[in-house]
Parts: sequence; C-alpha cells; structure tokens
Amino acid sequence: MDKSILNKQVQQPNQNILANVCAMAASMDDVIDLSVGDPNFKTPQPIIDFAFKKTSAGMTHYTAANGLPELRQALCDYYQQQYSLVYNSDQVLITVGAQHGMFLALETILDPGDEVIIPQPSYSPYVNQVKLAGGKAVIVNCQATNNFSINTDDIAAKITDRTKAIIINTPNNPTGHLMTESEMKGLAQLAIQHNLLILSDEIYSDYVMPGKHFMTMAKYAPNNVVINSGMSKCFAMTGWRLGYLIGPDWLIDAANEINDAICYVAPTMSQEAAFYGLQHHDEMTNPIVNAFCKRLAYLKDSLDHIDWLTAMPVDGSIYLFVDIRKTGLNSVDFANYLLQKAGILVVPGLAFGPAGEGFIRIAATQPLATIQKAVQKLNTLDLKEA
Ligand SMILES: Cc1ncc(COP(=O)(O)O)c(C=O)c1O
Repeated sequence: MDKSILNKQVQQPNQNILANVCAMAASMDDVIDLSVGDPNFKTPQPIIDFAFKKTSAGMTHYTAANGLPELRQALCDYYQQQYSLVYNSDQVLITVGAQHGMFLALETILDPGDEVIIPQPSYSPYVNQVKLAGGKAVIVNCQATNNFSINTDDIAAKITDRTKAIIINTPNNPTGHLMTESEMKGLAQLAIQHNLLILSDEIYSDYVMPGKHFMTMAKYAPNNVVINSGMSKCFAMTGWRLGYLIGPDWLIDAANEINDAICYVAPTMSQEAAFYGLQHHDEMTNPIVNAFCKRLAYLKDSLDHIDWLTAMPVDGSIYLFVDIRKTGLNSVDFANYLLQKAGILVVPGLAFGPAGEGFIRIAATQPLATIQKAVQKLNTLDLKEA
C-alpha cells in the first residue's frame, strides 16, 4: 500500500513557506524566536487552580455536546455586557479552539464548489480549511497603502451565485489592523444584501492598543455573522484548546450535529477553566494585554528609527507587520537573512498569501528584554551583506 490511498487533496503536501527557515532555526543556538503566535505567559494561576479543583471533585466526564450550560450562559452574559448583544445559550457552541470552530462553521455551510471570500493577508490555515470542507477559496488582496483594510467594492466584485461566506479577522493576524466602524458597516450591508455569512474570527478582540476600541462584527449584522473566538489568546490558554462559535441557532444546531460525529465535545477541564476566566475576565486578561501593548509600542517605535524597515500602524493583535521592500529582498529571503545574520526568527509575509509579500510578521511573544535584544541586533545589521 502507498499514499495513493490518501484522499487526493492531501497526496501532495501543501507548500510550507516556513519549513526551511524553521529547520535552519532548529539547528542554531540562541535564536530569538519572534515567529510563534503563542503568548509566552502561563495561564493565570487562578484559572488553573479552579480547573484542577473541579477535576479533582469529579468533573471528569463528557459535558453536554454543545458545552457546559454555565459556560455558554457566561458567554451570553459577556456579549451582553460588552456589546449589548442578546444571545441565548442555544446560540453558543463550545469548540476545541477557534481553529476547530472555523472548520466546523465551514463544514456546516459548504456544499462542494461553494465559494468563500478571504481577504488577504490572512491567517494561513483559512484557505486550506475552506478546501478541506469542499469549498473554493476566493482571495481578495488588501493593500498596504490602505493599511490592509477591506475594500467593500473589491469584495463585491468577487461575489458569485456560489458565494456563501466571507472570512474576516479583526484585530488582524498578521497585519495588526482593526476594522473601522465604516469598514464593518460596509461589509455588513454587503452580506445582508447578498444573503452571505460573515465568519468573524475575533480571537484577538482583547488585544487592542490604548485608545483603540474593538467592536464585534455581529453588532452590525447579527443574523449574518458567526462569531468565532476562544480562550487561547485572552487567557493565554493555547494548550487547553478551548473556543466557541456564536451565531444563528439553526447554524449552531447543525454545527453541533456535525461536531457530534467528530469529537463530540471540548475537554471538560478546559471548559471549567474558560468558565472561571470569563467570570474574572479583566483581572485575568489585562496584565497580559498590557504587556503586549508595551512590547508592540516599543517595537513600532524602534523600527520607525531603522530606515530600511517600515512598520505598519498597529491597532491590535500581538503582531507587527513590517514592510521590508526597501531591502530589495523578498520576504522568504529576508527571513533567512535575518535568521542567519542576527539569529532572529520571523514569519515571511508570503505565508499569509501573496498580498503579504514584501512584509514580515514579528510576533511580540517574548519578554520585552528579549525584544530589546532583537532590536539591538537589527540595528547592527549591515544590509550591504544581504
Ligand atoms: C487569527 C487566528 N485565528 C485562530 C487561531 C487559533 O486559535 P485557537 O488556538 O483557539 O485554535 C489563531 C492562532 O494563532 C489565530 O491567529
């Protein structure tokens, strides 16, 4: 037997833009890794303690398939308090992380050949998720000159009678852009007019820079939006694998039915952890978010003094997207150069789609002192050697 038994989509591995850079990084000492999107903080201790206490007390069983009722209710309360949005707990499905949630949403809505519009640069897995769910990813390139905001006319131009959904992500990985109210309203109108869903990845909703304000897309088109989010970033809980979908009850019901055949439900212990986190949201989240804001502000300010780099404005997320076009190198070659000459690992912009070419993504997922060391190294680079 050989791999011809695999489904045709996975017989040929996808191009892995990061593979070579990461392989090289693994063979080097003292690499400053600014590539991963995993906050370097441990999950706040009270969250861990609560989850362990519940587990010790016997919460070691399956929960209801759509998740712990008190967790779903806590999410409804949270959206009511934060955004004055009224959901009932049947509109919430607990998932094994936001990534699982997005895939479930796609599986739930796509028939073979249905189209999903993805503005890029975008979180890399979306395109593959659409394909795996049987759909066709339709890419819209956003422009750096426009801070990578979504141009509604560009989206409208890609809508066909097969279009089912648009995937957005705000604050954005990798660009750091936060959708403005007018951008959101424009997209909401378009979705309503064409009877489309907006799958809104809001995993970085807490990570906004001082003076910026996050609003969920659901505010502008509640019947057309599926909120996709989770606890990985807000409570530094990447390893617990806990996320959620919130949307129309008919869609959540169908997603629940599909999930029943996949993993049934998210881990009980992680659901307990998420429940505690939501009850103490600001106390758990603020120290982490404040640290990231400081790091990003420092990075942006420092890079503004390096004349061959141009950092994009950062409204939120945990990343800085940096224009490297003045170096004359493409993003993959520049990432290699940075690794070899300065021992700094970043993600080439091409990993986020062709619209990301000419950029690199720097994740502020290291302590400030480490980021300062990376900036010192950047300042000593002699680009003539590139
Ligand atoms: C935009 C975006 N969505 C989803 C995820 C994955 O979230 P989760 O850990 O909840 O699956 C990430 C992780 O980096 C992300 O950047």
